[in-house]
Amino acid sequence: MTEKKAARDIYIFSNYLNEIYHIYMMSAEQEIFTVKFRMYLKRMIAKLMDTSFGDLEKYRNSNCASNCLPGHSIRTALLAMCIAKELELKKSEITEIGMGALLHDIGKLFLPREILDKPCKLSEIEFDVIKTHSEIGFQLLNEQDWLPGPSVQIVQNHHERLDGSGYPNHLLDDQIHLYERIVGVADVFDAMTSKRNYREALNYEFAFREIKKESPLLLDDRIVLILGNIIERYSHSRKELAERVEMRRKICRYPCVE
Ligand SMILES: [Fe+2]
Repeated sequence: MTEKKAARDIYIFSNYLNEIYHIYMMSAEQEIFTVKFRMYLKRMIAKLMDTSFGDLEKYRNSNCASNCLPGHSIRTALLAMCIAKELELKKSEITEIGMGALLHDIGKLFLPREILDKPCKLSEIEFDVIKTHSEIGFQLLNEQDWLPGPSVQIVQNHHERLDGSGYPNHLLDDQIHLYERIVGVADVFDAMTSKRNYREALNYEFAFREIKKESPLLLDDRIVLILGNIIERYSHSRKELAERVEMRRKICRYPCVE
């Protein structure tokens, strides 16, 4: 996977999302998800199934703004699927999680851009508007019988938190499905490690420590632990790679001549 390919994925997804928005705005009665888009989603999930956590950065460093909807959705899906693989879920389950994660914020297409792109902290009223996206997305997808039910539920419940402080339905503990907990953690991690108009991106380790602090009350700590393992393995392999590069550089600087 190269950054160019990641940028292309984001560009194509972005075009499909625009298409959905325009079809819906022209006629809410019409079928808004074209056959081509449904096929694209399947292909994208198959691709993400073979993509590793290391490629997350490529989807962030592409020419698209790091917090744009298509980029955030692809990264959240990639991370959620990595977590699901660690949990040794079945391929069909990982697919359902990926599908829900790719579409989890689709409701934001219908929110005012001036609130979504506001370059500073949102007011309480504006935040209430943002909160409607999970219900809007759910209503939009609930009628789509080609989508698995659990994927649609992810769209509705990815902001629910274990202590009931989430939204839209203030679900508690076991009322939040495993898929929704996984996407909830992936979503938070990507939001924290992406640049916002009002703050820089946090690094992986710092973001993870912050999530871990909150996790016993809000997020599933088993899933947070898995996220920690994935990050640790990734950091370790990056460190090893950096050491190998440094070693090669030294060898090149001091060639051994017999
Ligand atoms: Fe969301």
